[in-house]
Amino acid sequence: MVNQASSTLLSKMARSNGHGEESHYFDGWKAYESDPYHSVSNPNGVIQMGLAENQLCFDSIQEWIIKNPQASICSAEGLHDFKDVAIYQDYHGLPEFRNAVAKFMTRVRGGKVEFEPDRVVMSGGATGAQETLAFCLADSGDAFLVPTPYYPGFDRDLRWRTGIQLIPVTTKSSNGFKPDVETLQSAYDKATAEKISVKGLLLTNPSNPLGTVLDKESLRSILRFAQSNNIHLICDEIYAGTVSGFPDFISISEIIEEEKQHTNRNLIHIIYSLSKDLGFPGFRVGIIYSYNDEVVNCARKMSSFGLVSTQTQRLVATMLADDEFVNEFLERSANRLDKRRKVFAEELAKLGIGSLKGNAGLFLWMDLRGFLDEQSVEAEAKLWRVIINQVKLNVSPGSSFHCSEPGWFRVCIANMDDETVNASLTRIENFVAHSMAARKRKSLRLQKNLQVSLSFKRLQQQEALTMSPHSPISSPLVRART
Ligand SMILES: Cc1ncc(COP(=O)(O)O)c(C=O)c1O
Repeated sequence: MVNQASSTLLSKMARSNGHGEESHYFDGWKAYESDPYHSVSNPNGVIQMGLAENQLCFDSIQEWIIKNPQASICSAEGLHDFKDVAIYQDYHGLPEFRNAVAKFMTRVRGGKVEFEPDRVVMSGGATGAQETLAFCLADSGDAFLVPTPYYPGFDRDLRWRTGIQLIPVTTKSSNGFKPDVETLQSAYDKATAEKISVKGLLLTNPSNPLGTVLDKESLRSILRFAQSNNIHLICDEIYAGTVSGFPDFISISEIIEEEKQHTNRNLIHIIYSLSKDLGFPGFRVGIIYSYNDEVVNCARKMSSFGLVSTQTQRLVATMLADDEFVNEFLERSANRLDKRRKVFAEELAKLGIGSLKGNAGLFLWMDLRGFLDEQSVEAEAKLWRVIINQVKLNVSPGSSFHCSEPGWFRVCIANMDDETVNASLTRIENFVAHSMAARKRKSLRLQKNLQVSLSFKRLQQQEALTMSPHSPISSPLVRART
């Protein structure tokens, strides 16, 4: 009765699974939430390694907040601004906020390009920024190409409320999962032949889940591909500040600066947020930076649906205007992430587990192909169930990222302390030992069966020579096997 009523009273959108909660990605989170690991109160609980949070530099942020009490209106020093902050705000955002964000975007990209504060549009995290931009660029039924593996949230953020389609474009491990232009072009041609209007290409650089950065030549060729087909190029660069060492991160903004003469900038848009580089996902600071004036105008109006609170803008503006702090923070954060990445990659390697070589993001792309019973999505799901239920680690399987090769898993490395890192590595070590032992037992069993069946065959051959086929004497081996 209730179901019938709700099925007619609610919209199709409300009844759909557009949020994408029915997936291993979210199931892992649920498993963690129902049994969260705690070193003292729940040492056998699930360790959360499915959450791309950057928690390695909260100490720096806290120090800064203590030194700058006036930046918050919830302090005696900042209270006199309370009224200005509490009243309705202009949807353009505070000028000091846009200035500080534009400057920070420049700083994160090594000062190689300038960003204009007037092109900075705010939104509720990159989640809101993606959707707003999608609303500006495409209509329901239109499509964006997205190289795989990609962040599972895109299926929700770009599709659910807009009615837009995403067309996954496969990549292969043999070239480090780099998107190639031939495959992009054939995906574009196929969709166009099916009368789907492809409006753009969504690229994530640095990549979630790969933890890699794209090289200049790849970026150039992807840009040329998008421009020659007259489609938008959206670059999600929310991990720009998490890169350490070589190769450097190269923003699409640098490429279009170099290719000035041949680029229609109206088709270029950057998605940014402070969720990863500063580790502030709770602040919901998302940015659309578009080179297209009409998109900036429209997105700014739409931002009324997802403004960043004035209190947050004010705090962030003050913090990001502090050059000394920003420089120190970015350096420290990159160093700590680098160290964490190396520890994980090296410890996994010692256990015989490979991972994609990367120097960005808050994760590792772990290669468990050798642990699959067979190379299939079903075998990957089976392995994932063992990892979540028995090993009790919430890592995310490649299928949730539309990865075309089964057996890859994303491991988040920056949302935990060193002690939890050790606990997780011990569990992985035990899992490997257990799998090896099981494999050994299986291969011994197989060997034994093989020996038995070989001796049986030999015996049969001998019997065939010495006995009549109707002999009443049965082989002892046959008895033993039945
Ligand atoms: C590539 C990518 N884009 C967007 C988002 C959403 O970010 P936000 O928390 O700023 O909404 C994420 C979050 O993990 C992400 O990895």
